[in-house]
Amino acid sequence: MSDKNELKLAVLIAVVCIAAGAVSYGAYPVKAPDLPVRVMLEATGKNVLFDHKVHQDEYGLECVECHHSITGKKGKNEQACGACHKSDGVFKPALGKKGLFDHEEHIEDFGLSCQDCHHMYDEQSDGKPQACSECHMDTGDKDMPGIEDACHKKCISCHKEMEAGPTTSDCNACHKPRMRKDAFHNQCTACHEDTGAGPGMADCKKCHGY
Ligand code: HEC
Ligand code: HEC
Ligand code: HEC
Ligand code: HEC
Ligand code: HEC
Ligand code: HEC
Ligand code: HEC
Ligand code: HEC
Repeated sequence: MSDKNELKLAVLIAVVCIAAGAVSYGAYPVKAPDLPVRVMLEATGKNVLFDHKVHQDEYGLECVECHHSITGKKGKNEQACGACHKSDGVFKPALGKKGLFDHEEHIEDFGLSCQDCHHMYDEQSDGKPQACSECHMDTGDKDMPGIEDACHKKCISCHKEMEAGPTTSDCNACHKPRMRKDAFHNQCTACHEDTGAGPGMADCKKCHGY
């Protein structure tokens, strides 16, 4: 082959390569790697290396099993856990002395009657209204909703009807989320213990090893 032909061939190959490259590039657009492969979670003892990819691909878990959907919609809550579960966070239930539910305010400022909430309360009788938890236990059944369902139904349905007050899209207005450490420990170890796979709460070092 002459120098000239060699040059032509080289140019041809280059053109073909560039064309093929451009076509492939267009056909398979590079997707920004928005899913972390591994996450190093820093802890004062030893850090935790969480293998996101393995958990998701090999253990066949749905995103929402961890990025729990607080709005009920799938896949819309893939923020870092710490966006809500803060290091200095303290869990506050909605009710109870330190809760975010304001009984006085609901009666006086929002002008509600006792029966709006105390559905078994008969104002004609001597019976005093009781706390919901007197009857609605931690777990419910068909005939008797548990405390979570009873309150969610009652509280949220009124807020929706009146278009006032927090609903399912605003959990934090009724609850203060648990602190970061508890959120991780509870989620990671609960799944491991339920499925009998992966380190449980007794195996500190299997997670805190880095
Ligand atoms: C086994 C639990 C688990 C599963 C399953 C899971 N993730 Fe995650 N994901 C995490 C944890 C833990 C983090 C780290 C969060 C942090 O740093 O606070 C994370 C981080 C992320 C982040 C980065 C968030 C940020 O702002 O730093 C994105 C995006 C994400 N996951 C998307 C997904 C998607 C999409 C799926 C499903 C295809 C998925 N994840 C499945 C637990 C999980
Ligand atoms: C948009 C805010 C938000 C994000 C993001 C979020 N959570 Fe939550 N989480 C909450 C709220 C609100 C609750 C209900 C109140 C509570 O129990 O703390 C909750 C409850 C929980 C609970 C049940 C309560 C318990 O301790 O048993 C666990 C576990 C949990 N979250 C872990 C996580 C993990 C792990 C991530 C990240 C993969 C995450 N959360 C991301 C807001 C959030
Ligand atoms: C209108 C207020 C309100 C909103 C909004 C709300 N909750 Fe609740 N939730 C309650 C009440 C009241 C209870 C009853 C238990 C208690 O707090 O004492 C409860 C109970 C719970 C419980 C049972 C655990 C416990 O503390 O007893 C969980 C878990 C929970 N809510 C999660 C959520 C999540 C997640 C969201 C957002 C999708 C949410 N809640 C939105 C008022 C609310
Ligand atoms: C918006 C709903 C709502 C309205 C309206 C309301 N309550 Fe309550 N009430 C509750 C909830 C929820 C509790 C439980 C609070 C807790 O456990 O911290 C409660 C608790 C009580 C308790 C305490 C019961 C106990 O054993 O601790 C009394 C008494 C009470 N209410 C009386 C009334 C009276 C009287 C009215 C009307 C003037 C009224 N409530 C209106 C929701 C309401
Ligand atoms: C004296 C016992 C008692 C008390 C106190 C009580 N409940 Fe109930 N509640 C019941 C029983 C029994 C049912 C099931 C039968 C029914 O639907 O009336 C029920 C049902 C409910 C339901 C389901 C109704 C439906 O239409 O699906 C909600 C919501 C509810 N309660 C909320 C509350 C709230 C919120 C409080 C506190 C403010 C409360 N309950 C206090 C006994 C009680
Ligand atoms: C019958 C109607 C009704 C019920 C039932 C009800 N609420 Fe409300 N709630 C209201 C109204 C009205 C507001 C006022 C919203 C405003 O002014 O923007 C409100 C506001 C709130 C707010 C925000 C308060 C603030 O200062 O901004 C919280 C938190 C709340 N409710 C929690 C609860 C919880 C928890 C329950 C159940 C135990 C509950 N509510 C049951 C009607 C109700
Ligand atoms: C919804 C379920 C689920 C959740 C949530 C979960 N895991 Fe796992 N994890 C698994 C399963 C399944 C295995 C597989 C164990 C096996 O195959 O032996 C595993 C294994 C592990 C292992 C050992 C093997 C490996 O892959 O490194 C570690 C470490 C681990 N998980 C850390 C975590 C951490 C940290 C979190 C929380 C950020 C977490 N996991 C949340 C299901 C879960
Ligand atoms: C399944 C994995 C797993 C197991 C098992 C586990 N942890 Fe953790 N731990 C975590 C994760 C994930 C975090 C959150 C780190 C962060 O904040 O980014 C954490 C956070 C912590 C923190 C808070 C760190 C800080 O800097 O505030 C302490 C303390 C801790 N763990 C101690 C323990 C102890 C003690 C044990 C055993 C009894 C244990 N952990 C078991 C995964 C685990």
